[in-house]
Amino acid sequence: MAAEQSAGPLDSAFYQPADTFFPAQAGLALTYDDLTLSTLYSEILPRNASLDTELARGLRLHLPVISADMDTVTESRMATGMALNGGLGLIHYNMPEKQQLKEVSRVKNHVHGLIQEPITVAPDKTVGDVIELIETKRYSFSTFPVVGDDRKLVGLLSGNVLKPRYAAKQVTSALVPRDQVQTIRESQLGADPIAIADQFFTDHPGINKLLVVNDSDELCGLFTLSDIERITTEKLSQFRPARDDHFRLLCGVAVSTPRNDAGELDRERIESHVGALIERGADVVAVSTAHGHSKGVGDAVALIRAAYSDLPLIAGNVTTAAGVDYLADKGANIIKIGQGPGSICTTRLVAGVGIPQMTALYVASQAAKARGVSLLADGGITKSGDIVKALTLADGVICGGLLAGCPETPGQVMEISGKLYKQYRGMGSFAAMKSGSAARYGHAPKDANRKVAAEGIEALKEVSENLDQLLGQLIGGVQAGMGYLGAATLPDLRAKARYTRISPAGQKEAAPHDVVEMKASS
Ligand code: XMP
Repeated sequence: MAAEQSAGPLDSAFYQPADTFFPAQAGLALTYDDLTLSTLYSEILPRNASLDTELARGLRLHLPVISADMDTVTESRMATGMALNGGLGLIHYNMPEKQQLKEVSRVKNHVHGLIQEPITVAPDKTVGDVIELIETKRYSFSTFPVVGDDRKLVGLLSGNVLKPRYAAKQVTSALVPRDQVQTIRESQLGADPIAIADQFFTDHPGINKLLVVNDSDELCGLFTLSDIERITTEKLSQFRPARDDHFRLLCGVAVSTPRNDAGELDRERIESHVGALIERGADVVAVSTAHGHSKGVGDAVALIRAAYSDLPLIAGNVTTAAGVDYLADKGANIIKIGQGPGSICTTRLVAGVGIPQMTALYVASQAAKARGVSLLADGGITKSGDIVKALTLADGVICGGLLAGCPETPGQVMEISGKLYKQYRGMGSFAAMKSGSAARYGHAPKDANRKVAAEGIEALKEVSENLDQLLGQLIGGVQAGMGYLGAATLPDLRAKARYTRISPAGQKEAAPHDVVEMKASS
C-alpha cells in the first residue's frame, strides 16, 4: 500500500478499528461525545460521497436519515419532506387507524410540486376574515383559491387585495373570477406533471399560480411558480427523492400491537391494519416499542412476518446482541437500537436501564452482521457529527428532536417571550400515552390514566429552519465526515472508521471555546 494510504503502527496503536476499540472498552459504555474518529488519507471530495443505503431488499434510501414515529414529529407532511430529500418518514400511530391510512395515502399520492389539498376560502367570507386566518394560522402564503360548498372553483383571491382597507368587502367582490383564472384539467397532467407546469409558466409570463380542476370543475390541486422553479433547480442536485418502483415517494408507518380483552395480541386487527397499510402503498412497517426483546413484541413481529412475507419490517428497540438475534429470528429485517438516549426520554432515570449509543450499536452490529439484518441508530442524535459516528456501525439513523422544530412537524407554533416554539414530547410521556402510545411502554391504554411511570417528558423545541434547509446542513456534515475518512460510500465508512476515546477537556476543545460567538454559521 502506498505510504500516504497506510495507517502505520503508531496511528494503529492510538486510533483503532471497531473490533479492537470497543472490546477494549468493555465494561464502560460509550456514546457519541465519548469518542472521535481519526482522519485518513482521502481522495474523496465531500460532495461526491454517496449516502445511499439499502435497509432491506428493495428498500433503498439516498439519505440514511429517518424521522421518528412520534406524534410531534412525523405525519404525512414530514414523511413527504423526508422522502423528497432521499430519506424516510415513519408515520406515528397515535391516531385512529383510518386516519393513519389517509396519512400514508397523502405521501404515496404526493406529486412533487402539486399541492393536492390547497388551503381554500369560501366565497361568503370577508377579506378581513381571510387576513385573520393568515395571522392565526401563520400562513406564509397569501393567495387562496375560492371554492363553494360544492367544491367547484369560484375564483382566486390574490394577496394584492388582502389589505385592511378592503377588510369589509366580501371575497366574491374581491376575487379574480373563475373565467380569468388559469387552470389545467387533472387529466391533462400526464406522466410528468412538473414538466407540464414548467412549460405553462414559461408560456404565461407574469402568472405564478396554476390551478388543477377535474372534469366537474372541482379544485384538485395547485402549482406555484416558486415550487416549480425550486424543483427544476433541485433536479441538478445529486440528492434524489426516495421512491418506489412506481415512482411514488417511499413511506414508512409504525403500528401498535393492540391486545384483546383476554390480554392476547389482537391478531386479526393487527393483520388487517397492516394489510390495509400495504394496500395504501406503505413501503415498510415498524413495530416500535421500548422493549423489543420481549415476548409480546416478538409475537407481533412473527405474526406480521407470517402474514406478509415480503414486507420490509422494522422492529425494536433493543441494545443487546441477543435482542437483535431474537427480533431477526422473528422476522424483522431492520432493527432499531436505542434505549433511553432520546432527548425527551427518561427511561434510564425512571427504570435504571439503557445503554449509551455507540456501545449499544457496536454490540448490536456484531449480531446484525451475523444475521444479515440492518440497524438503525435511534435517538440521541444532536448534530451531523453524531450521524457520521452512528453510520460507522449502523445503516441509518432515526431523529426526533433534531427535526422537531421544523415547520413540517405536526402542531402549532407557539410564541413565548418573543421566541417561536413547537411542542415535542416523548411517546412515553403521560400526554402521548393517553393519546395512544401506552402499549409501546408495556401499559394497557387505560393504564395511562392511572399511576404508571412516564418514561418521557413533554418539551418545546425552538422553531428551526425548514426541513430542506436542515437536511441540507446534515447532509453536508455527513459528507464532510466521509471526505475526512476517504470514504466514497457508507460501507467504506464502516470499513475505514478508526476510533479513540476523548477526555472531558477534549470534548470542550471540540466545540467553539474561548470566544464570544456572534452568530452560528448556517
Ligand atoms: P431524539 O434524541 O432524536 O430521540 O429526540 C427520539 C427517539 O426517542 C425514543 N422515544 C422515547 N424514549 N421515552 C423514551 O425512553 C419516550 O417517551 C420516548 N419517545 C420517543 C424513540 O426511539 C425516538 O425515535
